[in-house]
Parts: sequence; structure tokens; C-alpha cells
Amino acid sequence: MPKFDSANLPAPEFCIQEVRKWLSAYPQKPLAYVHSFGCQLNVADGEKLSGILKEMGYGFTQDVAEASLIVYNTCAVRENAEDRVFGTLGSIKKLKQDNPALILCLTGCMTTQPQIAEKIQKSYRYVDIVLGSSAVNHFAQMLWAHMHGLRYAQDIQIDTEISENIQPLRQNSLKAAVPIMYGCNNFCTYCIVPYVRGRERSRQPEQILSEVRSLIQNGYKEIMLLGQNVNSYGKDLPQKISFPELLRQINEISGEYWIRFMSSHPKDATPELMQALLECEHLAKHLHLPVQSGSNAILKRMNRKYTVEKYLSQVEMIRSENPDFSLTTDILIGFPDESEQDFQETLDLVQKVRYDNIYSFIYSKRSGTKAALFPDSTPESEKVQRMQRLLALQREISVENHRKFLGKTLTVLCDGESKKRSGNLTGRTSGNILVEFSGSTDFIGKFVNIQITESHNNMICGNLI
Ligand code: 5AD
Ligand code: SF4
Repeated sequence: MPKFDSANLPAPEFCIQEVRKWLSAYPQKPLAYVHSFGCQLNVADGEKLSGILKEMGYGFTQDVAEASLIVYNTCAVRENAEDRVFGTLGSIKKLKQDNPALILCLTGCMTTQPQIAEKIQKSYRYVDIVLGSSAVNHFAQMLWAHMHGLRYAQDIQIDTEISENIQPLRQNSLKAAVPIMYGCNNFCTYCIVPYVRGRERSRQPEQILSEVRSLIQNGYKEIMLLGQNVNSYGKDLPQKISFPELLRQINEISGEYWIRFMSSHPKDATPELMQALLECEHLAKHLHLPVQSGSNAILKRMNRKYTVEKYLSQVEMIRSENPDFSLTTDILIGFPDESEQDFQETLDLVQKVRYDNIYSFIYSKRSGTKAALFPDSTPESEKVQRMQRLLALQREISVENHRKFLGKTLTVLCDGESKKRSGNLTGRTSGNILVEFSGSTDFIGKFVNIQITESHNNMICGNLI
């Protein structure tokens, strides 16, 4: 099976222009369908792939049946994410049979795993292009090669080069994601990401600053800085710059906007980060600090490199200065041999921190990770029950947290119309709390002040003032 070697192919810019010429011969603009599964970093990669496609002359469709090129940008973090991709691939086999000219491309975290690439090659023979995670640089070359008769093109290397000359095609004109670094060095024992995304590499601060500046000038109101662990930003760069320093430089940009970031590993969340969060006016008063577990024994086996006590001291650092500061977290339930006592400790931690929201996941065994070899005697049904207990506790906390907003006036970035109650608008506070209110659609994209009159477990409601 031919493997792909970018060194023997023309440069990406040349390939883009060649594909463009090729496509211009079609009577109608060919359409691409691009779908990204998984996290916001994957979605940001998908926007870059779409940017390349646009430059090549593709139009876009939300309907796979209309597309002449389909790109699935996959996620490997949990088994059910992979199952969904295989299910989706099965469902479009017929499209490919009916239209052999349809190009089907698979990319993202799944494809970097050799056993998955092999499975695709064997059992999903109608896939045309398999491209490793972050390999956006090679995408144009792969398409060029395919159009020159390479029936199956595969490049499952992790692309460590950061492409600065690709303009992403953004899905949203109000909120933009800006990756500041790629990869992860942490090797939490349950996590596949370091294996499929490679080692940490940071973008140059000038590139990030200029992208953020241009987004703000173009009317974007919320920028989400992305990295697997933004707290290690800059450690691999020759010049000395830390993440809190980058945040302070971004905060100097004038305009009306909020900055958020994800994800922030507690082992590297420093007092400087907390100070920047409290002091910088453009930084949203919200910190997503994934704790994963409230048991020190489990944290150790997860290789998280912090203790519950250290984590709580970080929470205290921020809440002692600003009691309303919003905190959210990720919690992994049912890590191998998590005992009832370990789980109780997680519930205790959630009680203490009183998060504004939690994202909880049942542990999924990922082959190739250390934890995949750990014995696990906890039945799946018990894990599901633990998840329900955790969610019930968080619901109670959210109800109480939301009640404290009653009567207060909050600044909200209005981001659209409510899907649930027609005529209502929705928005988010600086703490990322969902707010509904009634008003004219002219307010969409603007910061507004809302007096809170109703509180629920998943949102609050109020009136424009
Ligand atoms: N199983 C379940 N959840 C996982 N996560 C990472 N790896 C796994 C896994 N193997 C969760 C963690 C992480 C979030 C993005 O996904 O909680 O913070
Ligand atoms: Fe995975 Fe841990 Fe890296 Fe996050 S910090 S991506 S959980 S290995």
C-alpha cells in the first residue's frame, strides 16, 4: 500500500493552486462536508482544514449527500468517540458506492494510532485519504496526490510543524478559538492524547498576539486560547515567556472582549496565573481546572502530580479574593479499581469547591496507555451509578449557586436566540453562566446588562436594563 512522503511531493502552496485549477473546470463549485468530533482543539483543526478547502475553491455543505469531498476529523479520547466514527463511516458506504468520485478523508487523533489506520485500510477500503492528527500542512498535498491517481493516500505521522500561513474558516463570527500550543507532555495514565498529538510545541507569542488583535479588530468578542495544558505554554520556546505573561500581553490589546482559556493543569497553575486572572480586565472570571478525582491515591495512579490539598489551596487563592469567581472541572469516574471510599472523596471535594459546572466522564480504557494494564474490579453498573450520584450532587450545587445571582445585574455577551423558548435571547456571563432574556435580535453580538429574576439548575433568566 503506498505510503505518503511529503518530501517527494510539491509544496502545499503549489498543490493548493493545482487543485484550484482542477476544480475550476467543474461546471458547478464542488462542495465539501467537514465534520470535527471531540474537543475544541479538534474543531480548531477542522477550521484550518476548511480554510485550505476554501482556498482550493470548494464550497461547503451541511449535507453529506451533496458533498464531493467528505472530511471526518476524529477524536480518540474515549472508545465511544471512536465507535461513533466507525458508525458514521458505515453509514456513508452507500454514498461512496453510488458515487465513486466522492473523496473520503479521515483525519484527527484516531488516525495516528497504527492499529486504527490498519483497521481502516482493511475494513473500510472505500476511505481515500488517511491523515494523522494536526497534519493540516499535508492536507493539500494528499488531495493533490489523490487527484493524480494515488487511490489510497496515508500519512499517519504526527505533524510537529506549526502552520502559521493557513487562514482558518471560522464557524462563528463572535467567538473564536485560538490554539496557542499543540501536544502534551504529561502522560496522565488514562489518556491517549500524548500518544496521538505528540510532544508540546508552543506558537510564537507574536503570532498569537497578532491573530488575537486581528480577531478583535474584526469584531470578535470572545477569544478562547487553546492547548492541552496552557500552563506549560512557552516552556519549549527559546525566549522566556510564561502563560501568565502571555495573558498579560493579550490583555493590553484595546477593545471590548473577553479572553478564556482551556485546559489548565492544576500541577502547573501558579500564583502568577491566579493573579493575572484576578487583575486583568479582559480575562473572564472563570477558570476550568480539571481535577479528575478527589482521592490522592487515585491522583497518584493517574500520574496527575498534585494532591487534593494543593488543588484546594489553588481554589482558595482565587475564591478568597473573589468569592464569585466561577470554577468548572473535569471528573473521571471509575478509574481502574476506584473504591467507594475514593469516590466519596471526589464527592467531598465537589462539595467543598462548589463548582459552577462539571464535565464528568466514565473511564474508557485506551490501549497503549499505562492504565489499560491496571486491574479493574469495579463493575460498569457501579460506575454508571457513581456518575448519577455525582450529577445529582452537582445539580443541587448549581441550583444553589444560581440562586445567589437573583436580583444582581450581570454583564452578558449575547450570543444568539434561545432554541428552547422562542423570542428569547441567550448569552453567557464572564463566569460562563448561561443566561436567557427577552430582547431584539439586534443585541446579538453585544455585551448587555441583565438583571437576574429567575434561577434554574442549568441557567438563569433576567431582564435587559
Ligand atoms: N476515559 C474517559 N475520559 C477521559 N478523559 C481523558 N481520557 C479519558 C479516558 N480514557 C477525559 C478527562 C479529560 C477530558 C478532556 O477527557 O477528564 O480532562
Ligand atoms: Fe491527557 Fe493529561 Fe495531557 Fe490532559 S494533561 S491531554 S488529560 S495527558
